[in-house]
Amino acid sequence: MEYRYCGKSGLQLPVVSLGLWHNFGNATPFSTQEEIVLHAFDKGITHIDLANNYGPPAGSAEENFGRMMARELKSHRDELIVSSKAGHYMWSGPYGDQTSRKNTFASLHQSLKRTGLEYFDIFYSHRYCPEVPLEETVQALIDIVKQGKALYVGLSKYPAHLASQACDMMAEQHVHCLIYQDRYNMICRKPEAEHFNFLRDKGVGFIAFSPLAQGLLTNRYINGIPADSRVYKEGAFLHKEDITEEWVEKARRLNEVAASRGQSLAEMSLAWVLAKEYVTSVIAGVSSIRQLDDNVAAADSKPFTHDELNEIDSILGNSIVR
Ligand SMILES: NC(=O)c1ccc[n+]([C@@H]2O[C@H](COP(=O)([O-])OP(=O)(O)OC[C@H]3O[C@@H](n4cnc5c(N)ncnc54)[C@H](OP(=O)(O)O)[C@@H]3O)[C@@H](O)[C@H]2O)c1
Repeated sequence: MEYRYCGKSGLQLPVVSLGLWHNFGNATPFSTQEEIVLHAFDKGITHIDLANNYGPPAGSAEENFGRMMARELKSHRDELIVSSKAGHYMWSGPYGDQTSRKNTFASLHQSLKRTGLEYFDIFYSHRYCPEVPLEETVQALIDIVKQGKALYVGLSKYPAHLASQACDMMAEQHVHCLIYQDRYNMICRKPEAEHFNFLRDKGVGFIAFSPLAQGLLTNRYINGIPADSRVYKEGAFLHKEDITEEWVEKARRLNEVAASRGQSLAEMSLAWVLAKEYVTSVIAGVSSIRQLDDNVAAADSKPFTHDELNEIDSILGNSIVR
């Protein structure tokens, strides 16, 4: 596994991180989940990405990970970077959603309890919330670091100019914003125009979520939708309407480019993200050890030629969102 420094910090992250958004709630047998997480750790994936609402039901991914920590990983706590987040809907009433100081602290305390951890390595504000003053959310993050409840803090899904302001506010109080997390893959390239410049200027690392576009940028749907796909699972954000004939044709052609490079499409898709100078790590989700091993191989990928990059862009064409 390759490890990269996260922006201008001393923290190194594995280029492939593991996300527990799907497949780690109570709908998946605990033994399957634990096998995947332990295998990931054996492969050098030292960074596990969680959030309060991962499941289903919400909270169960943190609880299940907490069980794994207690059973198998306790003695490896200092070899692990565990992140969690607050900001999306979690419980009813005025304090179970959004990014107020009240919600951020209550959610953090609940997440620490569910995971059984004394602190998170990274704690994120999960989204920008226009109803809440930016200063309030940022102050909560600063205080979380100062109270030792997280070693580092980060932001996810913030408009670039507000994320930039938030980083400045943290710096004024001697807290460095470690990392920014957003969707980034061969289809969704928005962070290139909107975020990369300010992140580089401020020395903040970038971690890409959904680097495989939830499986679209793999060979998973080339021969139809498999019965065990996330498409058919509770709380799915990938829908069968997303898997059009037009898309499948593009995926087939991308798969050919990957094959000509001696890779699977998943491996090539992750390598494409990691080839960007400013990316620290990709957070890939998986439903099996086979997928995990496939994804880990991206860490050793060969560089892309200009012709390959042009071929990818021409296949994707109007699917690319900038
Ligand atoms: N900050 C945020 O708001 C935010 C939002 C979304 C995600 N995230 C983080 O990012 C993580 C990853 O998101 P994601 O799950 O959407 O990521 P993804 O890596 O784009 O998609 C993962 C899915 O792709 C399929 N897959 C993975 N590897 C494969 C392979 N080698 N071959 C074939 N299919 C493969 C699997 O689908 P099946 O399950 O169908 O097999 C897997 O569950 C999350 O777990 C979470 O930690 C953060």
